[in-house]
Amino acid sequence: MKILLLGNTGQVGWELNRTLLTLGELVALDYPRIDMADPNSIRSIIREIKPHIIVNATAYTDVDKAESEPKLAMAINGIGPGILAQEAKKLGAGLIHYSTDYVFDGTKGSPYTEEDQPNPINVYGETKLAGEKAVQEVGGTYLIFRTSWVYSLRRPCFVTKVLEWAKTKKELRIVDDQISSPTWARTLAEATAQVIAQGRSDPLGYLAQKKGLYHLAGGGSCSRYEWAKMIMELGSHRHEQTVKEILPALTIDFPTPAQRPLFSALDCSRFERTINLTLPRWQDTLHLSVGE
Ligand SMILES: NC(=O)c1ccc[n+]([C@@H]2O[C@H](COP(=O)([O-])OP(=O)(O)OC[C@H]3O[C@@H](n4cnc5c(N)ncnc54)[C@H](OP(=O)(O)O)[C@@H]3O)[C@@H](O)[C@H]2O)c1
Repeated sequence: MKILLLGNTGQVGWELNRTLLTLGELVALDYPRIDMADPNSIRSIIREIKPHIIVNATAYTDVDKAESEPKLAMAINGIGPGILAQEAKKLGAGLIHYSTDYVFDGTKGSPYTEEDQPNPINVYGETKLAGEKAVQEVGGTYLIFRTSWVYSLRRPCFVTKVLEWAKTKKELRIVDDQISSPTWARTLAEATAQVIAQGRSDPLGYLAQKKGLYHLAGGGSCSRYEWAKMIMELGSHRHEQTVKEILPALTIDFPTPAQRPLFSALDCSRFERTINLTLPRWQDTLHLSVGE
């Protein structure tokens, strides 16, 4: 089985590069070898490599910058995945793609299911929703995993920022009214690999049977304030921390170019029922990752 991984330097892509290695022949590529903003680049790579399964971990993920670069964000997140899906369908390959809790407006007040109506409130969310639709409309064999608040210690993210602030500031104010499910990139990659491994005897048949959109995120939910407090408690360089106080704040106190949904936790029961796997609770993976 030949697996093509796109975006192997990203948070999830880096972890996928390790976990997919054992499943078959892995070809892993990143920009500029493939440019997801350029349909010709996507077509020529897929036609050259002819994979059985494509795992797309590429994305334009800078939520604030996307507000001023909507065309580029749409090309990478909205249009590129549709081209990938077309090429996968022509080849008879399966496509695994990731999306985001930011397709929702955050007003529901309880975890979102796949049946809930998306209503993005920022450019990033709009472009990711366009990507989901483009993949679905092609009608090939696809799995889309919508996830949330992805972190890894390998690239700048909320966790690495909090650890950095903890060493440089005396007081931290972190928003307590944004709630979702922190997801360690490693667990997302491992779940993806397990899905592929489950269908090893007939990979494409298995993916076709499980085809669809799934919510897949760390178990439970918390506010960014609760998350930050736990990151600091677990941080392995606690003796270097200068922070004396961490205080809850409101999103409106920190204006950003992009608006963010306030409550975007995901209900992952469809994935759990269909694939028979559950991601661990966010607290447990934070222990493993930050305490590492
Ligand atoms: N990060 C989150 O909090 C979050 C939350 C919900 C959902 N997601 C979704 O989860 C998936 C993985 O996200 P992540 O956090 O792992 O993202 P990431 O760390 O930002 O990695 C994105 C990857 O895409 C690559 N890339 C960017 N522009 C490209 C282009 N034009 N052509 C080819 N590759 C390009 C990047 O390459 P470079 O290394 O060259 O930049 C990088 O390898 C994405 O679908 C994302 O939307 C993420």
